[in-house]
Amino acid sequence: MLGIIGGTGLTQLANLEITHRKVARTPYGEPSGALTFGRLCDQDVVFLARHGYGHTIPPHAVNYRANLWALRDNGVDRVVSVATVGCIHRDLLPGMLVVPDQIIDYTHGRESTFFVGNDKPVTHLDFTFPYCDAMRAALLRAAASADIRLRDGGVYGAVQGPRLETAAEINRMERDGCDMVGMTGMPEAYLARELELCYAAVGAVVNYAAGRGASADGIQMEEIQAVLGEVMSQVRRLLEQLVTDEATVCPLP
Ligand code: HPA
Repeated sequence: MLGIIGGTGLTQLANLEITHRKVARTPYGEPSGALTFGRLCDQDVVFLARHGYGHTIPPHAVNYRANLWALRDNGVDRVVSVATVGCIHRDLLPGMLVVPDQIIDYTHGRESTFFVGNDKPVTHLDFTFPYCDAMRAALLRAAASADIRLRDGGVYGAVQGPRLETAAEINRMERDGCDMVGMTGMPEAYLARELELCYAAVGAVVNYAAGRGASADGIQMEEIQAVLGEVMSQVRRLLEQLVTDEATVCPLP
């Protein structure tokens, strides 16, 4: 079953016919909220709001382990993770969607593995390609069939937050090769790998990164709000096309 993790601006899916909600408990504590089960375009999906349904959990305090564990424990094998990003690369503009293909992790102090404790062997998993190819390809196909402009690929720089960056930090991130910046991409992507989930992300660009473009003199929250609604309605359309395509590719028995 498909799991959808929604970020800022996507705390619910308007067209999801909710069947039930479930408060999930995990060995790693509580997820950000109850899992919302339902049908989207006639397909079973589970939705979870990463920052809680009231948007109260900041990026560094999200229990990423509990979120992914709860999804997997409830039948999820594929995950689309939606998150807002600031754009660094000049081909990215506020209002656009992007499916990153690489990550640089600048976060710290987050619980970033399930392999802890004396009973667990030390485990190093391959993470050369951090996202699931099949899910990335499905997102790109869905964007093409729904006529949604979406950039294929890019390096996601995951920062600690909750503060935004300085202009110098963004310059350094650009030199590092980052195309976009966000606060929630890690350790989520790696934890999904540890759980063998097919995981891909959709970045919704809501602002120019600090010191760039319209943010040259500072990031204006009003500008983010102005873009957020429209870009998330594109995300909703993308997700609806994704599940519709899946139904065509693998018809239900
Ligand atoms: N920086 C970090 N995270 C973000 C940004 C940003 O500019 N925009 C949206 N999420």
